[in-house]
Amino acid sequence: MLDHLTVVSHPLVQHKLTLMREKDTSTASFRQLLREISLLLAYEVTRELPMTTKRIETPLEPMDAPVIEGKKLALISILRAGNGLLDGILELIPAARVGFVGLYRDPETLQPVQYYYKVPTQLEDRVCIVVDPMLATGNSSVAAVQLLKDNGAKNLRFLCLLAAPEGIARMQEAHPDVPIVTASVDSHLNDHGYIVPGLGDAGDRMFGTK
Ligand code: URA
Repeated sequence: MLDHLTVVSHPLVQHKLTLMREKDTSTASFRQLLREISLLLAYEVTRELPMTTKRIETPLEPMDAPVIEGKKLALISILRAGNGLLDGILELIPAARVGFVGLYRDPETLQPVQYYYKVPTQLEDRVCIVVDPMLATGNSSVAAVQLLKDNGAKNLRFLCLLAAPEGIARMQEAHPDVPIVTASVDSHLNDHGYIVPGLGDAGDRMFGTK
């Protein structure tokens, strides 16, 4: 099992993250760095996948060789910023099944409301990796994981680039069974729900919107 919280301290991850945080990094560079960093984070989040063996023949002799056990992984992107992490991970795990969860915050109740939901079948038999670059308040992550559990998912992991202590606490309280993998735990959330020091709005920075 992965730890409840894994902070990936690998020098390449930390170096790329610093470049992403810088306010003058261009949209093109931000996107490229996110793609690169997501490969490294995917390596960590899949570190303890269950393994089995398969009988193969090398040019020299037969052997029982290790392969990942079970059904194809499900990667679940929380729209829209999750798609930036998703693209890189799919390069590493091209056979993964992919789902999308769209949530917006109701301006009156401030609670997440679902506007899109499309996920692979047989979630109960898959390892599900939920991806969202920013674990800020944790409201949308908690809601997305709950939706997936309500649809049968039992084995989930949450992958983000940056996390705020508030979001981690909220996730761990609501879903203590879901390990979190991140590149950094930052200081705090500001009054607008942004991670500080953070990197700004991840969606805007990756898509060049404002
Ligand atoms: N979402 C973002 O894109 N950035 C933050 O700092 C918090 C939430």
